[in-house]
Formats: sequence, structure tokens, C-alpha cells
Amino acid sequence: MKQNEIDSLSLLKAYELFESGKIDEIEVGTFKGLSQIHGYIFKDLYDFAGKIREVNISKGGFRFANSLYLKEILPKIEALSEQNFDQIVEKYVEMNIAHPFLEGNGRAMRIWLDLMLKNRIKMLINWQNVDKFRYLQAMERSPVNDLELKTLLRANLTDKINDREIIFKGIEQSYFYEQ
Ligand SMILES: Nc1ncnc2c1ncn2[C@@H]1O[C@H](COP(=O)(O)OP(=O)(O)O)[C@@H](O)[C@H]1O
Ligand SMILES: [Mg+2]
Repeated sequence: MKQNEIDSLSLLKAYELFESGKIDEIEVGTFKGLSQIHGYIFKDLYDFAGKIREVNISKGGFRFANSLYLKEILPKIEALSEQNFDQIVEKYVEMNIAHPFLEGNGRAMRIWLDLMLKNRIKMLINWQNVDKFRYLQAMERSPVNDLELKTLLRANLTDKINDREIIFKGIEQSYFYEQ
């Protein structure tokens, strides 16, 4: 399958995750929950859907966690607090540094982030208003300093956690980041 086919089929699966209400069955803030999301949105598209990678990967010169240590690191990340906005973003940044899957980390992790925000502080990110290039720049910077990312995401928090348009346009935007 071509990459753009995989991506558009995965987008449909992401919509369905919310449409079907299965999103409410996903564990919040754990690696299991993240792998449930990844497994769902990449089912039948990637044979590694929901599975921890066994090779090392990097992006823009940044090396994500060594695959040999992932199994040790993931329980430590999931044990991090998620009581307030700052802690939730910090946990998200750590999970991004781990980058547990071979591909699809960004898209799965933004859903995982929103689940923590929704459940813990009754907020969501209004992704449609988060500029692609500012977001990716802030993510690149985040392993060293998370201030830019916190500022960008905080400015786009919304309490309309059940607003369909915000949810579905947000998923669309999240997929657009990866094109
Ligand atoms: N240089 C970088 N340093 C840290 N994180 C990055 C960097 N570049 C991209 N990212 C993060 O990684 C995500 C892309 O990871 P990837 O596994 O390819 O997910 P997807 O397939 O959903 O795009 C981006 O959305 C961003 O959050
Ligand atoms: Mg990718």
C-alpha cells in the first residue's frame, strides 16, 4: 500500500475511534492506552500496530530512546503525574522522546494527550488553531525546553470537550501535521 493510502485509511480509523465511542474504553495516561490507540488507528495498515519498536530511530538529528531500553522506560513515563496542564504536557514530551512505535507516534500520541487533558482537567487542545510549523518546531525543541510547546498548547486549550467539530477537525489537523 502507498503511504498516502495508509494515511487516509488511518484517518478514517481515527474518526471511527471517536464516532464509535471506543475512545472512552481506552486507558488514560498509560502505555497500554497509547498502544490501544496506535493499534486501533493502524490496524491492518502496519504489522507493527500497537507494538513497541525494536530498532533505533531519529528525526531531524534527534535520536529517540534506544530500543533496548524502551521496555524499562515506558513504565517510568506512565508513572509520571498528570494532575495539571504542565504535568500532562511534560508527560507527553517524555513519551515523545521514547517514541515507542516505528511510525505513527505523532498521531497516536496527540489522541493520548487529549485523553489525559479531557479526563484530568476537562480540557482539549483545539488543534485546528495550532499552526503546523510552530507545533513541529516546538516539538523539536521540547526535549531540551518545553516552554514553547506549553505556551503554544496552553493558548489553544478549550473546555468544549464534547464539541464534535473541535474533535474531528482536530484529528484532521493532526494528520495534516504528518504530511
Ligand atoms: N526533531 C524532533 N524531535 C522531537 N520530536 C519530533 C521531532 N520531529 C518530529 N517530532 C515529533 O514526532 C512526531 C512524528 O513522529 P512519527 O512517528 O513520524 O508520527 P506520525 O507517523 O504520526 O507522523 C511529530 O508529530 C512530532 O510530535
Ligand atoms: Mg511519521
